[in-house]
Amino acid sequence: MDGGVKRAFDAAAPGYDRLRRQLIPCFDDFYRAVEDLLPIPAGAAPRILDLGAGTGLLAERLLSRWPRARLVLLDLSADMLDRARERFAGRGDQVEIRPADYLADPLGGPYDAVVSALSIHHLPDPGKRAIFRRAFAALRPGGWFVDADNVLAQTAALAARHRALWIARVRESGIGETELAAALRRTRLDVLAPLPDQLGWLRRAGFDEVDCTYRWLHFAVFGGRRPPVRRGAGAPRRPSPRPSRRPRPPTARRPAGA
Ligand SMILES: C[S@@+](CC[C@H](N)C(=O)[O-])C[C@H]1O[C@@H](n2cnc3c(N)ncnc32)[C@H](O)[C@@H]1O
Repeated sequence: MDGGVKRAFDAAAPGYDRLRRQLIPCFDDFYRAVEDLLPIPAGAAPRILDLGAGTGLLAERLLSRWPRARLVLLDLSADMLDRARERFAGRGDQVEIRPADYLADPLGGPYDAVVSALSIHHLPDPGKRAIFRRAFAALRPGGWFVDADNVLAQTAALAARHRALWIARVRESGIGETELAAALRRTRLDVLAPLPDQLGWLRRAGFDEVDCTYRWLHFAVFGGRRPPVRRGAGAPRRPSPRPSRRPRPPTARRPAGA
């Protein structure tokens, strides 16, 4: 993992939470879309892994939606995680906070859901594909992976337009120019990939029900489900008494690893 990302977020940690709503004008809808995509009943006690959890902004929302959830927060930046520790002080072992590189270190599991917000876009594309496979492996069958992230527009002109519109909205929030400049400098660490490519990588990792459910400019929420184990799958097939000559109806393709 590139030490630049860790250094950048260690440095950003002190002012991170204060600036979030200004830097993400769609903040509430964006994070809420992650919760909404998880088909977890109210009152349940899901086990959820948060990749690149930072100061725990997303994790906190998940805990207010599912107060009995058990969360594992991983992040490269010790300084970001220190803020998460302050946020969740008193939660005991309901929230486990671990410094880790989610591409290299064990993820644990199986989880009911794996989520991530604004983190995976720091990985080069092979890393994105690898973390999608790792998230799949860490989920129980039927569990969901949801990524709220920055994605690349379909053309360079659109990407430039999205960035200009985003900066204009951020300026409207009254943010200081120094703080905006620091955020823009951090975008040099971004390795954005087009959304259709990422949806394809999710399918290739084995996910089904893959889709994007929220998008504003380069902010997108997308994900998929690890297919549930079908009842009777794996049981030896009984030979049919007579070979049928009728053509078989088309069946859905089974993703690898399901
Ligand atoms: C923009 S912050 C997002 C934090 C939080 N998810 C949120 O929505 O506020 C991105 C975080 O991803 C972390 N990160 C980036 N690559 C990582 C990796 N390979 N393993 C663990 N954490 C990583 C960074 O350290 C940083 O804290």
